[in-house]
Amino acid sequence: MKHPPARRSRGARRGLAAASAALLLASGTVALAQTQASAAAGCRVDYTTNDWGSGFTANVAVTNLGDPITGGWTLEWDFPGNQRVTSGWNGTFSQSGAHVTVTNPSWSSTLGTGASVTPGFQATYSGSNAAPARFTLNGTVCDGTTGPTDPPTTDPPTDPPGDRVDNPYAGADVYVNPEWSANAASEPGGSAVADEPTGVWMDRIAAIEGASGRMGLRDHLDEAVDQGADTIQVVVYNLPGRDCAALASNGELGPDEIDRYKAEFIDPIAEILGDDAYAGLRIVTVVEIDSLPNLVTNVGTGDVATENCNEMLENGNYQKGIAYALQKLGAIPNVYNYIDIGHHGWLGWDDNFSSSADLLTEVAQQSGSLGNVAGFITNTANYGALKEPHFTIDDSVGGTSVRQSSWVDWNRYVDELSYAQAYRQELIGNGFDQGIGMLIDTSRNGWGGSERPAGPGPTTDVDAYVDGGRTDRRIHLGNWCNQSGAGLGERPTANPEPGIDAYVWIKPPGESDGASEEIPNEEGKGFDEMCDPAYGGNPRNGNNPSGALPDAPISGHWFSAQFRELLANAYPPVQ
Ligand code: GLC
Repeated sequence: MKHPPARRSRGARRGLAAASAALLLASGTVALAQTQASAAAGCRVDYTTNDWGSGFTANVAVTNLGDPITGGWTLEWDFPGNQRVTSGWNGTFSQSGAHVTVTNPSWSSTLGTGASVTPGFQATYSGSNAAPARFTLNGTVCDGTTGPTDPPTTDPPTDPPGDRVDNPYAGADVYVNPEWSANAASEPGGSAVADEPTGVWMDRIAAIEGASGRMGLRDHLDEAVDQGADTIQVVVYNLPGRDCAALASNGELGPDEIDRYKAEFIDPIAEILGDDAYAGLRIVTVVEIDSLPNLVTNVGTGDVATENCNEMLENGNYQKGIAYALQKLGAIPNVYNYIDIGHHGWLGWDDNFSSSADLLTEVAQQSGSLGNVAGFITNTANYGALKEPHFTIDDSVGGTSVRQSSWVDWNRYVDELSYAQAYRQELIGNGFDQGIGMLIDTSRNGWGGSERPAGPGPTTDVDAYVDGGRTDRRIHLGNWCNQSGAGLGERPTANPEPGIDAYVWIKPPGESDGASEEIPNEEGKGFDEMCDPAYGGNPRNGNNPSGALPDAPISGHWFSAQFRELLANAYPPVQ
């Protein structure tokens, strides 16, 4: 399921930028051709400067030509040169590279039809000072025309209600899924962890009602109310063309089935979650893991790209689906949307890091408001160590940085905690609220047991140092399926570290990542060789063995041998 291909490649990143520009144009055309009722969006910008050769002030008068904006506005542009904003007024300014984001001042979050606002700023530059070619207001290009917003809505865009708590895990009893709990308790020693909260996966349309005799979404919510739980965690995972870089978690919807995704999956989920009976629960939704990260690393023409990911980038259905889900679910006052940020071994390279954050930001904006997002989650269903205790990214051996070791391979991060905290800062720089929090899936990143190094590796050379000291014992950081040697990680905990809302077990430990051989099934799941222990690898894992356990069932099914190993190798150990 988690297939992190994650190799840095400048070529691939450039390919992405070009492709997403094309995509914007394409989706604009589609939006204009739509006939169904939807909200109108449009704007005009008047950009004037007062330039003294090495600096300037500018006024950016923006007029809303569409429906009234009530939930705050975000104005964005890219400078064509090296202009840098040094201060701003009538808005909160942030700049990342050439990209500038201005959000409304706290005292003025509405913009009626025909209303204008004029943020201004002072900036420095050298060379030429051309005006930005394109401005967007809440994601809509300000070209003086109006068109329906995409995704279209029949209701006016909703202002995310302000009564959410800052951290839905703080002080909360989190729902224990009785089905997972029974599986865990049926294994020797499993009762010691069987009362831990785990994610409830909506991984196909039938899961909403309850597939193959299992509990449906309402059953879980009713049970959560009965348990007196404060918080429940629901994974929303059924995008068209799901899991485009791997086969183990391919889903039921074809690449183009975005309408079915909206009508048969998101709408019914939103209807259930919005039921008054559940208004007292804080509902954490983990929205569509793996998808947007795949559009950053596994596209273009490089050796890690896949045809399926290129197709999804071109048709835009991941972005449309996620924007729709964020909007629909974000309109429910007690829902907290968290978006997937892969993990450090996927997006931790410089070329992947900012470009993925920009993509997530764009998609959140497409949902109508960054306020639809409560936070982000890393390491879902992956194995990346929470903290590497025996080396840091700043260490070097004989003058050689650990970044040059073959394990780290120029990544900027060596563990999930440092990655999550840095990613949070990046997103805040992109305009997200300071209140966003991160989740880290620690269900299977424990790496305890007899193979766990007790101290740093030898300083003979940088590889010996890193390989001897690292607690993540995978053969390669890109391995993701049923990893041999892994253990349960930190037990679910609220507020464990600054910026981190919680350590969570979203992947229910003991549920397979994928079958180790082809197994016919009706869930749309394929066979991915990365789950075969005999497989010798591909460019996404540096052509290394897969490190997968043998005899695994298809993804999501109970894998007793894996659960037992996770328990035995737990770190911290299970008492
Ligand atoms: C994988 C499976 C999905 C399952 C989930 C949790 O993503 O594809 O069916 O629900 O893991 O185990």
